[in-house]
Amino acid sequence: MRHSKKKPWAGRFVKTTEAVVERFNASIGFDRRLYRVDIEGSRAQTKALERIGVLTAEERDRILGGLDRVEEEIAAGKLALTDDLEDIHMAVEVRLTEIVGPVGGKIHTGRSRNDQVALDERLYLREAIGGTVDRIDRLEAVLLDSAERHIEVVMPGYTHLQQAQPVRFSQYTMALFWMLERDRGRFVDGAARADAMPLGSGALAGSAYPVDRAFLASELGFSRVTENSIDAVSDRDYLLEYLSAAAILMGHLSRFCEDLIVWSSSEFGFVALDEACSTGSSMMPQKVNPDSLELVRGKTGRVYGNLTSLLTVMKGMPLTYAKDMQEDKEPFFDTVDTVWMALEVFAGAWATMSVHKGRMSTALDGMILATDLADYLVRKGMPFRACHQVVGKLVRTALERGMRLEDLDLETFQAASDRFEADVEEVLSPERSTALRDLPGGTGRKAVQDQIAAGWQRLAERIKEAEG
Ligand code: ARG
Repeated sequence: MRHSKKKPWAGRFVKTTEAVVERFNASIGFDRRLYRVDIEGSRAQTKALERIGVLTAEERDRILGGLDRVEEEIAAGKLALTDDLEDIHMAVEVRLTEIVGPVGGKIHTGRSRNDQVALDERLYLREAIGGTVDRIDRLEAVLLDSAERHIEVVMPGYTHLQQAQPVRFSQYTMALFWMLERDRGRFVDGAARADAMPLGSGALAGSAYPVDRAFLASELGFSRVTENSIDAVSDRDYLLEYLSAAAILMGHLSRFCEDLIVWSSSEFGFVALDEACSTGSSMMPQKVNPDSLELVRGKTGRVYGNLTSLLTVMKGMPLTYAKDMQEDKEPFFDTVDTVWMALEVFAGAWATMSVHKGRMSTALDGMILATDLADYLVRKGMPFRACHQVVGKLVRTALERGMRLEDLDLETFQAASDRFEADVEEVLSPERSTALRDLPGGTGRKAVQDQIAAGWQRLAERIKEAEG
């Protein structure tokens, strides 16, 4: 189906648009994604116009019928959305008018594409956030399940990528759970701020028709209306907040990808990605590469780029609307697509990877219990600083003898400090080390189990909320 070429704004123009300008100006190639929310907005607008007498009831119904048909045609791919139509807002109006006749031209009364696009984006954003937090919830469930299954697994914990202290693998897993909780909170907070209906702002000064904005808000599922017409058409904070939250989220996933990639190397062998989440090499037959995690890490770059891109577009722009703002859509859509996929791929990789308990425990180096040894002396009444010195010397001795700390004999311990007694043996095990750290937030078994229980509780509350 082709349209008449005449542009809605053609009245003032004598010349036709240069082809390259038309192509440059058009957003229909990407804002077609907004067609459903654009039509939803127009339905509410049609009803609001009838309520103030701009449309008769008969005209309203004819337009509503026409909008249904436009939606069906676009959904079925029957409408050619070509550059000459400029954007989705004009495409819908042009096609509507072809279907219902000149009355279709009444729908834009008191509305501008400036408030229309702000509305469409907020409606679309609502779905984007819904889909994002659902995927976060699904990843969180994968993590809780994994933390439960591997509660016995003790591994080296790292600072500076040097072995530091033994930790539970589940403690490491739960670290990501709590990061995701903050990420989720950022998306949900952003949704609350974006929950304001901009229609009625017109181009910038407000509509000259007394449309009932509260009615529009309730028709479109918003809890309130925007307070200021200038702000409403100039604002893209709602997209910037989504992009910021997405950037932080991707940064979190990326760090875990990095760890898992290192840990799946033959040198570490702590984990193995499932074959279904890996790919092979075209040349080296033995290779199983963690491409899926590498790509989550790599795509973090484009999500950061998208945030930077929109921040840069918005900076220095005079109020209110300028066409620069059309550049908001591609970074936004690309971020939604990327974040949704990254969350799904990451969850799949985590759920199916194997965790090699034996490799993790044999990797614990002979010095990793040094802090526990110092803590032992603290409990015997020595100030921590002094304990640090004593144990530092013991570490040197062990290194010189090529032994693990726990393999030094009591005599050696006692030569370093007379506070050492036979019970020193008890503290020299990784299990004991983690068991000692059973305070809230620690890596002890009960402490981790409490985190897991709190996590499940949160997910259950959300499901109840969604159903209630
Ligand atoms: N396609 C435009 C955009 O995405 C719609 C708003 C156009 N408004 C205007 N005054 N030209 O920003």
